[in-house]
Amino acid sequence: MKAQAVKLNDRVYWVGAIDWGMKEFHGYETQGSTYNAYLIIADKITLIDTVRADFADEMLARIASVVDPSKIDYIISNHTEMDHSSALPKVLEIIKPEKLFASKEGVKALNEHFKLPIEVTPVGDSKLDLGGAHLSFIETRMIHWPESMFTYFEEDGILFSQDGFGMHLASSERFDDEIDFGRLKYEAAKYYANILNPFSNLVAKLLEKLGKLNLDIKMIAPDHGPVWRSHISDTLSWYGAWSDPKRTAKALIVYDTMWHSTEKLAVAISEGMLAGGAKPRIMPLTAFHASDIVTELLDSGALVVGCPTFNGGVLPSVAAFMQYIKGLKFRHMLGAAFGSYGWSPAVVKQLNEQFEAMRIELAGEGVQAKFVPDDAALEQAYNLGFSIAGKLKNNS
Ligand code: FEO
Repeated sequence: MKAQAVKLNDRVYWVGAIDWGMKEFHGYETQGSTYNAYLIIADKITLIDTVRADFADEMLARIASVVDPSKIDYIISNHTEMDHSSALPKVLEIIKPEKLFASKEGVKALNEHFKLPIEVTPVGDSKLDLGGAHLSFIETRMIHWPESMFTYFEEDGILFSQDGFGMHLASSERFDDEIDFGRLKYEAAKYYANILNPFSNLVAKLLEKLGKLNLDIKMIAPDHGPVWRSHISDTLSWYGAWSDPKRTAKALIVYDTMWHSTEKLAVAISEGMLAGGAKPRIMPLTAFHASDIVTELLDSGALVVGCPTFNGGVLPSVAAFMQYIKGLKFRHMLGAAFGSYGWSPAVVKQLNEQFEAMRIELAGEGVQAKFVPDDAALEQAYNLGFSIAGKLKNNS
């Protein structure tokens, strides 16, 4: 196949692959993605990360547009997850590099994934001389996996950050300033919320570590999405905010409904919030994907979840949503529950228990209504919204 590398500067090239059709990434709804790999032309020609196995030929073709792949001396694996490593067995057979580097945990993880024809050389927080070009490795545990690391190209100021600062976005543009700024921020936030949020405390520590290293970063080159060259301070400050979320006046109301009774309660809660000065956003699970809802959670002060009682429990759609946010460890916001029931109310109690198990502070007992909410139930829902707004006001 014919495919071109994209120049980052005189000696660094993007040689990754674009996956136009990927719709889902472990439960996260995407519009395609890219698997980025980078080629450094130095005395020791070096490839940083690879791609998903079925995109190996595309990556090799892009490399071949710059240099014969067999001339590559070193390969660095910053992250073992299959979207960056599963091409390795094939690529190693073709390239036959002198060395393959990974973090200490990366060595184990690569050998646990693949039968590789080369011994993997472990690196810690250390340096590598490519001849006229120096790389330093920075361990970034749990961003995204235990073995993950960043590689910093000292002379050229490029931080190869694997999943960090990435986004799932298939596009022909390779740089941040070629993409609409609002889209860029949304996709970066969506990636953070759905992939990195569980590790926010480690993200905060990593930002501190990067600050202490005092790197002169001219580009951030992640393994997904565009290369950052114009909005580096933006993306760093977004990560600072997302890793230390605050209870803002924004409140999400998320629900599913059978006969619109739970929906009526949702609208009443929203009215109460508006009257109390909060900024409600109604996001029914029938209209919004969970991965977009959790993106909005990054800067929300409250999450109010509604569901009718169904066979003594929650609807499968709501159960799946609660399971999803549990895994992503959102904890900063207030939680509350509401829902209708026919003869045996169960959902509000069950949702409250789930919030508590997730260590999410409850904003109140919740609201439940028999069959179709009457005026008294709608007033209770309104009052719940009003009271949450008051709590958010006191917090912000
Ligand atoms: Fe893009 Fe954690 O893999």
